[in-house]
Amino acid sequence: MARNPVHTMLASPNHDEWARQQYTLSLKDFVRDHVRARNEDLYERRAKPRFMKEHGRDPESAQEIGTVMWDDPAYQMFSRLHRDGQEMMWNAVADTLYREQGRLAADYTRYTQSDQRKGSLELDPNFDIPRAMAEVDIHLQPGGYCSDYGDDDVLAGAFYEYGGNLYTMGRGVGVSESKGEVGVRFINERYPDFTPTRVLDIGCSAGSSTVPYVTAFPNAEVHGIDVASSILRYAHARAEAMGKGVHYHQRDAANTGFEDESFDLVMSHNAMHEFSQSTTEAMMQESFRLLRPGGVAMHMDVNIRYDEYSPWMQFHRGWDQVNNNEPFWRVYATNNPSEMLRNAGFPEESVWQGKVQQLDNSLHWFISTARKR
Ligand SMILES: C[S@@+](CC[C@H](N)C(=O)[O-])C[C@H]1O[C@@H](n2cnc3c(N)ncnc32)[C@H](O)[C@@H]1O
Repeated sequence: MARNPVHTMLASPNHDEWARQQYTLSLKDFVRDHVRARNEDLYERRAKPRFMKEHGRDPESAQEIGTVMWDDPAYQMFSRLHRDGQEMMWNAVADTLYREQGRLAADYTRYTQSDQRKGSLELDPNFDIPRAMAEVDIHLQPGGYCSDYGDDDVLAGAFYEYGGNLYTMGRGVGVSESKGEVGVRFINERYPDFTPTRVLDIGCSAGSSTVPYVTAFPNAEVHGIDVASSILRYAHARAEAMGKGVHYHQRDAANTGFEDESFDLVMSHNAMHEFSQSTTEAMMQESFRLLRPGGVAMHMDVNIRYDEYSPWMQFHRGWDQVNNNEPFWRVYATNNPSEMLRNAGFPEESVWQGKVQQLDNSLHWFISTARKR
């Protein structure tokens, strides 16, 4: 299972769209490798001495570094270019998706009506979308996650997967790495005696983190939940296009509505950095409530831990919160998921938290896990 598997729900660019998308990637790469790479030097040579002159000491926090960096014209130029690259990337992706919109909607309808269907989709017309998700276009995705243009609309999911593929290629996360596969490998290594029969992926989005569990545990019933209806329609059609049975539901991580002790594996991938503190805490409590005795919780996300970072690194990595509509970036980078697992009721000795290498490069995911007694 590759991170970017090819299937019929994946939009396909024409020549000009592809060329434009490649241009935006080159721009993003250039800004990252040649403009952003100089920011620390800029800080050391220009901004820090300016702060020192004014305050008689070095800056002590990311916020203090911001007061001198945000005024620096070279940093402003970097920041503008970085944001432009991101906006241009989404616009370039939108060309393909708006052209393919009718075809994708028709394919969605065909998959949902097929008698070969392996999974299911449950949307809730009265669902109360959390405000932060309804009002913010996270990392500038056009329309955000929660736009919904009608009963066969799959655009937000198509943006997430097709745009995300381009996004990660431009940012060096790797082109053939699957978050789900890392999760499966981690679970098999840490819990060799464990074979789940009912699995829940929280914040599943387009389902690229969910489907690998169907492949890895073919006898398991696999469920995915998310708050975004259009994304879930896409995820459903995508899984069917790949011949994988997943049961998708529109539900909130903080209050899933499933029965007590009804799963033996509850996990999330790359989702906590988009959750508020209270949602993450509630998700850990839900993980405990939903698991049967012996069940496993595994929550995995980007490897940003501010307690390991210098103030400069906190400022540097904090760009996304300020400029790329990631409202919970800092909350995620400073919270302690393993403590939340303990507070939720998992036995102390079962809780583990650490870094796990990605499959195709030297970057790491940050995993927090625990097992119910
Ligand atoms: C960055 S995506 C991660 C998607 C997927 N797990 C993956 O690895 O590709 C985060 C997802 O979490 C969903 N989400 C945000 N808040 C949520 C909540 N309170 N409950 C369930 N899902 C939520 C968003 O709609 C989005 O699809």
